[in-house]
Amino acid sequence: MKLWGGRFKQKATKLVEEFTSSINFDNRLAKYDCIGTIAHIKMLAKAKIISGSESKKLVISLLKILSKIETGKFRFDKNSEDIHTNIQKELFKYAGKIAEVVHTARSRNDQVSLDLRMYLRDETKTIISSITELQTIFVDLAEKNIDIIMPGYTHLQHAQPILLSHHLMAYYFMLARDKNRFNCCLKRINIMPLGSCALAGTSFNIDRKYVAKLLGFPKISENSIDAVSDRDFVIEFIAASSIFMMHLSRLSEELILWASKEFNFIELPDTWTTGSSIMPQKKNPDVAELSRAKSGKVYGNLFAILTVMKGLPLSYNRDMQEDKENVFSTIDTVKSVLNIYLGMLPLVKFNKDIMRNAVYGDFSTATEVADYLVKKDMTFRLAHSLVGKIVLYCIKENKNLESLTIKEWNKFSKLFKADISQIVKPENSIYSKISEGSTGVIAVKKSISSAKSHLRSE
Ligand code: ARG
Repeated sequence: MKLWGGRFKQKATKLVEEFTSSINFDNRLAKYDCIGTIAHIKMLAKAKIISGSESKKLVISLLKILSKIETGKFRFDKNSEDIHTNIQKELFKYAGKIAEVVHTARSRNDQVSLDLRMYLRDETKTIISSITELQTIFVDLAEKNIDIIMPGYTHLQHAQPILLSHHLMAYYFMLARDKNRFNCCLKRINIMPLGSCALAGTSFNIDRKYVAKLLGFPKISENSIDAVSDRDFVIEFIAASSIFMMHLSRLSEELILWASKEFNFIELPDTWTTGSSIMPQKKNPDVAELSRAKSGKVYGNLFAILTVMKGLPLSYNRDMQEDKENVFSTIDTVKSVLNIYLGMLPLVKFNKDIMRNAVYGDFSTATEVADYLVKKDMTFRLAHSLVGKIVLYCIKENKNLESLTIKEWNKFSKLFKADISQIVKPENSIYSKISEGSTGVIAVKKSISSAKSHLRSE
């Protein structure tokens, strides 16, 4: 069965049928195609375009098809051009000839946009709630490991001592932005395009707001040409997913680095790592590596859809059928990486002593020494240069800031008093941080507790 064909004298060649077919992938939209069609039929009856009894028969038939789809019993027909054709064909089997009415005041151009929007709306909500779960894990880990001290890095060089909990909370905030982006996408996904028909709307007296209400859309699209041309909501979703995947690739990289022998900051759970076929000693972070790599696939999807849409004349063009595989691949990738981290992260063990010892003697409290001098009225530039010289002296003498005697400090400046030996301790460096949003214990505790109440209120 085809939804067109009257004006053709000859059938399309097999190759054309195969080339243009989308049933192999758009079958994912089956459920939404039924739900959307049910709403359309109810509206047609309400507007008296079809009769109440026709509507009833069609709705019952579609509900049967829907239950077959939901229980995995529906056999997709490879000979149908797309999912819309396939469901229509099935409807004929259940309802007979009256199935012909469902394409009154509807085209596949607005139908496909509707299906995709409903599908993406559900998937986006699922992704948002999984991100909330991941945020909860970060907050829990931060709370459990509140007192672990570690080197903070810039340029992957020891920079200043930080709390591990502060570092973990950085991911909480990255994820909060991701969620925010997905929620913004949702606003633009959640617009009901049906009734735009092929591109010009319809001469039937349809009730688009009623369809929107039935399908839980707060708004209807306002321009029929834009409605069937628009795939911005797809692009935005994949763009938000790309940034999210970039965040998870950074997390992956840190876990891979931290699990290396050189860092040895963490131990990954056996159940979430793999071994080597030749080196018996190996425990590899493959799951984190694959997660790091999978961001590439999502970026690829973003470029694919941007390229598909670039330069397309309004309104619907068949090129747009190519949007779906990019969406599906993005959703699968995002969800699989999310599930990996939801399972693995709570089981990561932090090597508290190794992290703490990594800060010892690494000059990462040098800024504290400079600040000490500034508080005694030296300019920061001068203090910076003087402390640089102290570090150089330590390197030459094989010493560190913690082991310098007061005599040695005073060789560089008389402003140093006995309390300098406390100032250079990493713990004290952390305690000294009092600015909002800093790694100071009070600030981190505050950020954990506000994150917790935020998560509770969501
Ligand atoms: N399978 C098509 C798609 O996904 C449905 C719309 C087809 N419309 C058309 N005029 N051929 O885009």
